[in-house]
Amino acid sequence: MADEKPTDGFDALLTEDRVFEPPEEFRRNANINDPGIYERADADPEGFWSDFAKELDWSRPWDRVLDWQPPDAKWFIGGKINASVNCVDRHALGQRRDKRAIVWEGEPGDQKTLTYGELHVEVQKCANVLQKLGVGHGDRVAVYLPMIPELPIVLLACARLGAVHSVVFGGFSAESLRDRINDMQAKLLVTADGGYRRGGIVPLKQISDDALDGSPSVENVLLVKREGLETPFNVVAGRDHWYHELMAQVSDTCPPRENDAEDLLFTLYTSGTTGKPKGIAHTTGGYLVGTYATAKWVFDLKEDDIYWCSADIGWVTGHSYLVYGPLLNGATCVMYEGAPDTPGRDRFWDICARHKVTVFYTAPTAIRAFMKWGPEHVRKHDLSSLRLLGSVGEPINPEAWMWYYHHVGGERCPIVDTWWQTETGSILITPLPGITPLKPGSASRPFPGLKPAIVTESGEPVKVGGGYLVQTRPWPSMLRTIYGDHDRFVATYWNRWGRDVYVTGDGAKVDEDGYFWLLGRVDDVLNVAGHRVGTMEVESALVDHQEVAEAAVVGKAHEIKGQAVCAFVTLKEGVQASDAKVEELRQHVAQKIGAIAKPDEILWTADLPKTRSGKIMRRLLRDIAAGKALGDVTTLADPSIVAKLREQYEDKEG
Ligand code: WT7
Repeated sequence: MADEKPTDGFDALLTEDRVFEPPEEFRRNANINDPGIYERADADPEGFWSDFAKELDWSRPWDRVLDWQPPDAKWFIGGKINASVNCVDRHALGQRRDKRAIVWEGEPGDQKTLTYGELHVEVQKCANVLQKLGVGHGDRVAVYLPMIPELPIVLLACARLGAVHSVVFGGFSAESLRDRINDMQAKLLVTADGGYRRGGIVPLKQISDDALDGSPSVENVLLVKREGLETPFNVVAGRDHWYHELMAQVSDTCPPRENDAEDLLFTLYTSGTTGKPKGIAHTTGGYLVGTYATAKWVFDLKEDDIYWCSADIGWVTGHSYLVYGPLLNGATCVMYEGAPDTPGRDRFWDICARHKVTVFYTAPTAIRAFMKWGPEHVRKHDLSSLRLLGSVGEPINPEAWMWYYHHVGGERCPIVDTWWQTETGSILITPLPGITPLKPGSASRPFPGLKPAIVTESGEPVKVGGGYLVQTRPWPSMLRTIYGDHDRFVATYWNRWGRDVYVTGDGAKVDEDGYFWLLGRVDDVLNVAGHRVGTMEVESALVDHQEVAEAAVVGKAHEIKGQAVCAFVTLKEGVQASDAKVEELRQHVAQKIGAIAKPDEILWTADLPKTRSGKIMRRLLRDIAAGKALGDVTTLADPSIVAKLREQYEDKEG
């Protein structure tokens, strides 16, 4: 279609030619340092993955590694495994009983530590509480909690029973929470009175009550008390139960259920091109193998590491690399509740220094904010414990990479730029820090056993150059379906270049050395501060406002967030545009979806540029927002609209 050519940006020249070899000592001690692994895994991917699977505890071994009926995969068929046993019991009953599993720090500065032995007790008690509230195998549990230790405890307790957890990020609105609860038909909601964020309080219970007004599947609410917090809320008798009260009543042993390798472990909702967010479904065995293997090799986890992933457990990064991956490896994990600039802009470095963090994983948007705040905040603290750094969520620009490398890593820590998605469950493109020479801005090579490719519009593979990023081989932690909508799963991910080609939705380039350079989404999904925002969702939220006639949403480059949400809005006849109206619409979107989807910019327009068939030409709007020269406008129904819009936009930008 002449209208939307998402590949336009693929010709961008990348001139980065700095290369950083693994430091010799790092290489020598790394969990994996033999480059031959790539060839071996490529020759026998099933053998490669099953070697990792053998390092986990199964109550019954699998009969077959893989059953691949594209696009349907089953891994470790016949195997029985429990995620909580592998994350907790294995360590608590072995050598790591007194080793710290979770080192937690609240935003106000309160701290808590849980050893593997203690976590073992908490998880079993919590599983008993869930059981008491009627939760069993296959039941869905919605989890809307702040970043407090009860969050991983609840997830592991669900896993112990074979119940399916579905975490909803605490920044989402009541309506978003309600939609998700209804889609998954959750039986139980676990929430808290509130949580701290940037010095303020997020009233999670109040929001939950709003959501539950319209979520009939929820029978009970398990309510965690965030210590120290004072915020008003109601307790609904018979429905709401205090976590600490029930925890005090139950036994501290709960035998784990023998789950099937392909039993659902969790769903997690994520935005797509069309419609409501999709419940990405992950199963047990394959997901555990994928997160275990990648945490071990990409983060090089060793017995004495103190590992910190700064992501919220509301996103997949927190699931895979704050909970499952590191705990499967028996690591000590730092968990932090709040914002990076509370109380000061050095909060992260203060945490790194005090807890002697050795491996640190964060997002480019955070790094760009740190850059803007200045290196003096980093320099205030002794970061000599750090030995490895990670990045995830969006392309990291070489400037941010170099800043991270120099100011945070002291030029001695390799940086692993890890590419993956909610759907992929675990990291798929990444350096192996003891093997891979690093190029700033490139996620480098596929994890062993994977086979990503770049293809053209017509599906031709590109050896060197740009195009669409696809995966041509199944992997253990791949999504199995979209919860409740298998047809949408097939149509969204496996319907473009054949049933066995997974469509990532990203554009990328591959260079002469086989390094991948991610270029961002090629669909109508934005990446705002590392979070996925569907343009259609924001548009529906806007037109839901009674005074809005029409809206089109595009992304615009943003210095810190990567992309900003930019909305072009047509108001209904007789409605007066004003700054107050801008704010009202922004709040409306926040209330419908959540603050992350709030438009950064709203531009009023009498008309939107459309093709003769009535399709909004987002490409033109993107160009207008970016201040770029306008491309082909010949397909427009009314070309004068664009000229007008451009003028208006330039006036506004001054
Ligand atoms: C999208 C997935 C899974 C991590 C958290 C985001 C973008 C992710 C990178 C990276 C360039 C990246 C992609 C992808 N992305 N990591 N290292 N380099 N882009 O998970 O919300 O499912 O978003 O994030 O565009 O498709 P998600």
